[in-house]
Amino acid sequence: MALWGGRFSQAADKRFQAFNDSLRFDYRLAEQDIVGSIAWSKALRSVGVLSDDEQQQLELALNELKLSVMENPEQILNSESEDIHSWVEQQLIDKVGDLGKKLHTGRSRNDQVATDLKLWCRQQGQQILLSLDKLQQQLVDVAGQHHGTVLPGYTHLQRAQPVTFAHWCLAYLEMFERDTTRLQDALSRLDTCPLGSGALAGTAYPIDRDALAQNLGFRRATRNSLDSVSDRDHVMEMMSAASMSMLHLSRMAEDMIFYNSGESGFIELADTVTSGSSLMPQKKNPDALELIRGRTGRVYGSLSAMMMTVKALPLAYNKDMQEDKEGLFDAMDTWHDCLDMAALCFEGITIHKDKTLQAAQQGHANATELADYLVSKGIPFREAHHIVGVAVVSAIEQGCALEALPLETLQQFSPVIEDDVYAMLTIESCLAQRRALGGVAPEQVSFAIQEAQKRLDKRFTPKVTGALGAAHRFGYH
Ligand code: ARG
Repeated sequence: MALWGGRFSQAADKRFQAFNDSLRFDYRLAEQDIVGSIAWSKALRSVGVLSDDEQQQLELALNELKLSVMENPEQILNSESEDIHSWVEQQLIDKVGDLGKKLHTGRSRNDQVATDLKLWCRQQGQQILLSLDKLQQQLVDVAGQHHGTVLPGYTHLQRAQPVTFAHWCLAYLEMFERDTTRLQDALSRLDTCPLGSGALAGTAYPIDRDALAQNLGFRRATRNSLDSVSDRDHVMEMMSAASMSMLHLSRMAEDMIFYNSGESGFIELADTVTSGSSLMPQKKNPDALELIRGRTGRVYGSLSAMMMTVKALPLAYNKDMQEDKEGLFDAMDTWHDCLDMAALCFEGITIHKDKTLQAAQQGHANATELADYLVSKGIPFREAHHIVGVAVVSAIEQGCALEALPLETLQQFSPVIEDDVYAMLTIESCLAQRRALGGVAPEQVSFAIQEAQKRLDKRFTPKVTGALGAAHRFGYH
């Protein structure tokens, strides 16, 4: 049943209905719509539209509906209702009769849907924050286990300088930490309640909107009714936080796909996250990682679709805005799944330390050390850089590492080179020298692991969970 019978003498065309209805995707807002409706019934009671008894009856019925929806959300899809707001209202009327028809007093689906969506973002955001934490914990754990595992570091995909597997893990940890703060930031900005803005001009009932906002766990009420019903910034902010994080996930996935390749053989993923080929029996493909990489495009697509939809939309609500949901739901689901899948890929991972060490030893990755050595003997860096370049060419010609060149050969490049040069050219020395903050030296990596663990421990402390979503006030703010 539609919500506006009186104005119309013809029924809607079935094709238009199918085109217009949003229930098949906005059914996911059922819980939020019910919680928002309960809060609205209390607001109506406070201004005398509902008696205490009527409000209690509505609240009871709405709570029953919530339980039933949480048990079986798919039941909603069997209905002909246009959207989740109509569905909830109809269910209420079926349960309590005419009293149910009072609930929509002073409210519009415009402020309702805006509120529902913010409640949903908040709840989903909390889940994603947890997944970001879990992935970061996984990275800290692997970093702890591979503190001493040497890995060639690359620039331009050429071996550049040795690093450690721990240092690599911690690089991604930094990215996910920024994603966490980006999401927290988006969540704190969307923490304002549009309910009580009516269709666009505000509600004609003297409702205390700040009290209503607090009742729903929001920091405060939104300030302008026109903006309240037309604002979808939060949808785009959530998707842009998702996009940036997917970008990080895709880079990590790509690194791991390369490390897992036959060409490098640095790591081997567990059977549990790989798949075989239907034709080639020897294959073990990194599908989980490839899908993470692949799904990144889909999240960007949702963000740009929404930006295009909202671009140049006149105030206030327009039906175009119904297009916000499918992309948002898909982007958030995808982000969530990919974070969890990335964490899973580290479970049972084997790191072939011999291969990573061997690769780090090749490619003259200690050339910078030789230049630094010459600097320590008083040669200006630019000159030292040139001398080492010539030495590298000679090593390449002889097919050996720099440290394999005999002292007499090295001295031909520069007479200041002495026997102590060899100690500086070892991998251990390459790592140990980089002891300034953020470098790969073992003590800096230990420090970074400790600091990351401290940040995570603080966030993992049990959060007090109150009414729907109010949990976000604890731990994350
Ligand atoms: N299904 C609609 C949406 O998602 C709800 C708001 C409808 N408002 C309206 N004025 N038609 O945007």
